[in-house]
Amino acid sequence: MNHWRERYGPYALVAGASVGLGEAFARRLAGRGLNLILIARRPDVLEHLAADLRTRHAIEVRTLAADLGQPDLREVVERAVAGLTVGLLVYNAAYSVIGPFVDYPLDEQLRVLDVNCRGPLVLSHLLGKAMAERRRGGIVLMTSMAASQGGPWLASYAASKAFNLVLAEGLWDELGRRGVDVVACRAGATRTPGYAASRPQSSRVPLLEPDHVARVALDALGRKSSVVPGAFYRFSAFVMNRLLSRRVAVRIMGRSTRRLYAGRDGRPRY
Ligand SMILES: NC(=O)c1ccc[n+]([C@@H]2O[C@H](COP(=O)([O-])OP(=O)(O)OC[C@H]3O[C@@H](n4cnc5c(N)ncnc54)[C@H](OP(=O)(O)O)[C@@H]3O)[C@@H](O)[C@H]2O)c1
Repeated sequence: MNHWRERYGPYALVAGASVGLGEAFARRLAGRGLNLILIARRPDVLEHLAADLRTRHAIEVRTLAADLGQPDLREVVERAVAGLTVGLLVYNAAYSVIGPFVDYPLDEQLRVLDVNCRGPLVLSHLLGKAMAERRRGGIVLMTSMAASQGGPWLASYAASKAFNLVLAEGLWDELGRRGVDVVACRAGATRTPGYAASRPQSSRVPLLEPDHVARVALDALGRKSSVVPGAFYRFSAFVMNRLLSRRVAVRIMGRSTRRLYAGRDGRPRY
């Protein structure tokens, strides 16, 4: 039997699955022979991907159009996976607001918490519990280079990504002892619709390809507690997190975010 299906199958659930990195995870997992449950908000985009995967691979693909920030997320997903053995969770979706923290309404900042922190916590608990009982499975939490220090103009997003990194590291040890592999993927800038929609000015950093990030994250399962795809970003992480003080790292993050997103007047271009 296929190792991936045996270890992480028969179903993988990808939360935030229709485009970008989520689509890349879905395509990689389909190629590794796992049946899929794909979650995103836009049913048409989701169904388009599901139909393509069904024709290319001998797998079952189910879709669930839902908002991962909704308060009854647990109940909605529990109903969708009833009777299925979900051996892998990839929590990929995220919400970000770019610009001065206090310039956004509080509701926007709270949505960052709901989608980026509450969502992965709920699904890791729901699906991780069943995996621990079966003593096999895997969880991938998508986080970011922004997770390792404060992020001016991205303060709540960076904090939410730190939550995922630290949650994954804790579960890596805890669930690892019960047969469940957990990894946090700390991605750098990646060529996705989400990144393009944030309208960054031309970037001096190299853009990663989604398929590369998905492959590196999946291959790190069972090997590492967290992984940084791409040599440039691994070097950056070494400099930012090991060589520099946190204060300096925060200032550098702030400078590079402002350079990417400020207009001529120094204000965010939204
Ligand atoms: N791209 C980068 O440069 C980069 C860098 C570092 C880390 N990351 C991390 O990588 C992950 C994916 O980023 P991405 O750039 O691929 O994002 P993306 O292009 O915006 O795609 C996000 C996916 O998640 C779905 N989604 C978003 N919000 C959702 C919600 N509330 N409920 C359900 N589904 C939702 C979207 O579909 P619908 O719109 O149809 O819901 C879409 O399929 C995020 O965790 C992000 O923090 C990205």
